[in-house]
Amino acid sequence: MTKIGTVPLASPFVVAPMAGMTDTAFRRLVKRQGGCGLVVTEMVSSEGLVRGIDRTLEYAEYTEEERPISIQIFGGDPAKMAAAAQIVEGMGADIVDVNMGCPVAKIAKHSAGCSLMRQPEHAASVIAAMTQAVKIPVTVKMRAGWNDGARNAPTLAKMVQDAGASAVTIHGRTAEQSYSGFADWDLVARVASELTIPVFGSGDCIEPEHVIGRMETGVSGVLVGRGVLRNPWILAQAADMAAGRAPRVVTRAARGQFLCDYIELLLNERVGEGEGFRHFAPSCSPDNASAIARGRDRWVINKVRALCAWYSKGLEGGSHLRTRVNTAASLAELHAILDEFFFAVPAAG
Ligand SMILES: Cc1cc2nc3c(=O)[nH]c(=O)nc-3n(C[C@H](O)[C@H](O)[C@H](O)COP(=O)(O)O)c2cc1C
Repeated sequence: MTKIGTVPLASPFVVAPMAGMTDTAFRRLVKRQGGCGLVVTEMVSSEGLVRGIDRTLEYAEYTEEERPISIQIFGGDPAKMAAAAQIVEGMGADIVDVNMGCPVAKIAKHSAGCSLMRQPEHAASVIAAMTQAVKIPVTVKMRAGWNDGARNAPTLAKMVQDAGASAVTIHGRTAEQSYSGFADWDLVARVASELTIPVFGSGDCIEPEHVIGRMETGVSGVLVGRGVLRNPWILAQAADMAAGRAPRVVTRAARGQFLCDYIELLLNERVGEGEGFRHFAPSCSPDNASAIARGRDRWVINKVRALCAWYSKGLEGGSHLRTRVNTAASLAELHAILDEFFFAVPAAG
């Protein structure tokens, strides 16, 4: 069984962190399908966690059902990253993950995200400060490197291992590539063969067969990003295959039901939840719930639109669904569109 530090993973298949997409409701629903060994939150600002004010703080929220849970933070200051890791540990998370892969300029310009890969010594000092500050495992998610001239993941991965990291994930593209081209799994395999801590790979697994195939590169596990947004059953299907079974068949109605369940969970976030059900960043208490409830329908519609941009790609007639969902002005209209697309019984004859 794959373990990250002392944290056992029941499956090596992981939901990759995706800003704007992998909220707690989505993670819970994917987890319920089975085959998922770990979920990671959207990235949260270390600065925000430490100062207690930032829009990204709510991204640190998680529910008990999601365990084991990894909270991903970003930042470039060793002391602040260590303090943020302590807050994450205090929230009861199982793992704290460091984002060294984000290529977005607004993050990279603060020596955070993938720009840490351009300063390997400094990046290692961030990890050293964090591992000294907390008992939970500290993990790192990086890219192949900043650009083709600097594909330094093998070197940096060793450095963060020496600094006390418990696992590393490599998304085999450079920051300059962003999401173009393909992930370099040969590089991922090389890092996996050179490190003693678990190495996970990420990139371009769209079908369960890809996930199974990539496990053969010698990695300890595979993170699936966009493939989960298209098909939330991909990890369960990969687990079926790993167990020697045929991957489960997902009906059109089940795909529709997933979206209905997502709407239901989003609508009821923070509503009537028992004590200990949800964990918040310290300054993001349930007292703020009323602020979040305001404009909830609009927020839910926007969330479903964002998911449908990916979800529709795996479906027959998907572009039609995407266009229609993008025009839905109310939840009632959204439900009517989903009913017609997923649940209408074709006329006989
Ligand atoms: C919409 C989107 C948001 C992402 N946000 C994050 C993030 O917050 N942190 C991170 O480490 N990676 C992030 N990624 C990268 C993914 O975790 C993953 O490594 C990458 O998409 C390659 O895997 P895939 O081909 O399975 O999607 C994001 C990717 C996408 C598509």
